[in-house]
Amino acid sequence: MKVYASILNCDFSILKEEIKKAEEAGVDGFHLDIMDGNFVPNISFGVPIVKAVRKLTSLPIRSHLMIDNPSKYFEEFIEAGSDAVVYHIETHYSEDLALKIKKRKKQVGVAINPDTPVELLEPFLKHVDEVLFMTVFPGFGGQSLIERVLEKIKKFKEKYKERNFFISADGGIKPENASAVKKAGVEIAVVGSAIFKNEDYKKVVESIKNV
Ligand code: DX5
Ligand code: ZN
Repeated sequence: MKVYASILNCDFSILKEEIKKAEEAGVDGFHLDIMDGNFVPNISFGVPIVKAVRKLTSLPIRSHLMIDNPSKYFEEFIEAGSDAVVYHIETHYSEDLALKIKKRKKQVGVAINPDTPVELLEPFLKHVDEVLFMTVFPGFGGQSLIERVLEKIKKFKEKYKERNFFISADGGIKPENASAVKKAGVEIAVVGSAIFKNEDYKKVVESIKNV
């Protein structure tokens, strides 16, 4: 499994060091959680932090938009240096946004909350590069992974054996559950607190990647 680091719970007063340590630990890219206090009950950070991370790394950056109006703001996140824009199916139900992101030659991800039926994704799958399964209810880092989402991922993966997109999971992933996450069919694990709330980033990243 690849590992993308979610910096939501890193120490922002030493962002440069945090990015460097995560890179040295072997992460495959960075996952930036943009929260608006409306779609989710929390406010995180926005464009300036994406720009800063862009300056600090050449690894891929995926902006995970947990905001009510992704079509209004996605351009700004592309301009800031995102390689991929991931928006929630619950916030935008039309293929136009995926096509606009594609037109900008960026990757498109569609995220889906634990209780949203996967059938809703069907009309968009032909346009997306990534389906991001939320394994927690979005809004906060450091929550526990919701096991039943792994079943949902398994069934989804069986149904779409032939596909042009990858499957990722976000929330509560740590070395202890990485094997179950991989078995469910996840190709990219988004990992926040398990990395940044630990002393040894490399140990955590390696144990998830090599599971
Ligand atoms: C949740 C976010 C996350 C998540 C990852 O709303 O999308 O990316 O916080 O962090 P951990 O690994 O702490 O759950
Ligand atoms: Zn996220």
